[in-house]
Amino acid sequence: MPDQLTKLAYQTLQQGKGLFGLAHKEMSSRLMGLLAPEGTPKTVPVDPQLMGRLKTSMDALGELDWQEAEQGLYPAALLFDAPWLDWASRYPLVWLDMPSTWNRRQQRNVRDLPQDVEPAAYPDYYLQNFHHQTDGYLSDHSASLYDLQVELLFNGNADPMRRRLLAPLLRGLRQFADRPATGIRVLDVATGTGRTLHQIRSALPKAQLVGVDLSTAYLRQANRWLNDLSPGLCQLVQANAENMPLADGSFQAVSCVFLLHELPAAARQNVINDCWRVLEPGGVIVLIDSIQLADSPDFTPIMENFRRVFHEPYYRDYISDSIEGRLSEAGFEAITAETHFMARVWSARKPA
Ligand SMILES: C[S@@+](CC[C@H](N)C(=O)[O-])C[C@H]1O[C@@H](n2cnc3c(N)ncnc32)[C@H](O)[C@@H]1O
Repeated sequence: MPDQLTKLAYQTLQQGKGLFGLAHKEMSSRLMGLLAPEGTPKTVPVDPQLMGRLKTSMDALGELDWQEAEQGLYPAALLFDAPWLDWASRYPLVWLDMPSTWNRRQQRNVRDLPQDVEPAAYPDYYLQNFHHQTDGYLSDHSASLYDLQVELLFNGNADPMRRRLLAPLLRGLRQFADRPATGIRVLDVATGTGRTLHQIRSALPKAQLVGVDLSTAYLRQANRWLNDLSPGLCQLVQANAENMPLADGSFQAVSCVFLLHELPAAARQNVINDCWRVLEPGGVIVLIDSIQLADSPDFTPIMENFRRVFHEPYYRDYISDSIEGRLSEAGFEAITAETHFMARVWSARKPA
């Protein structure tokens, strides 16, 4: 059972990551102001009161993360888990990559992708430099920096937000409590570099885990993180989440983290419909994505700034979309939603 000393260590770690993330963002935006002033995004002001509310919701996320570990939903060791040495060695690359990011932003060039990319192999909406990142999602270079960039963006709260899917996932899986743990199949849609699958595996070490993503490079990175040193293997499949090459009713749980805001509305619905198709009746879906205008109106300036700073072409549409409506259109029932810091978490069940 985790003890108070471990809790203090976790809080200290989170504070340290938070300060590092803030300092990184402050230094990089100052440098951009100096070296590439024309590309500097025009953000809306965020008042100190709002910053205070943001800090409160971040602390609440950390507290819940701790409590759920203490309840045994996942091991406390997961709270400290990250490839620290690897990230430290990649951090200078994040800085080296910045000038090309500023360039793209300045020139409004959002289709700057590797020459060898076969456009016919991807939906058109995908062929962009999301977040202005070098090569979009389509290179090993991009995949090698992604996790670190997300950690910096969320001030060290990316995994605590991802872990919010575990409680509803485990609750939903009670429906299949009579099955052996090894007979449970969980699919992570748009798995990227595998951080979500890693959290799921810690909570469900015996389940069969599958990840789908469009990016071979990101899946290669996921394969390194997930499969190199672990006794169990996660299966990784390169495919469009709108139409996955997976059998109907073949999973008891499906998760999908930080994908919906990067899709046009029609693709968003297609992905949710395909999740429904691959779930066995009685199965659970858990979605995590950005907070939205309806649930977090106070945080509107934060959402607005996110859209202005990063190339996120579908974010404006996403923040006013009804994900509950889309889940119910697909056929899901027992839909719930909750907010944790910058994350909205939906869960729902495919009728048994
Ligand atoms: C913001 S990242 C999120 C990755 C991961 N879920 C996480 O928590 O970090 C979005 C991911 O969605 C993938 N993606 C985008 N559109 C997709 C689609 N139509 N089908 C499958 N994957 C897609 C991208 O390649 C990328 O890995």
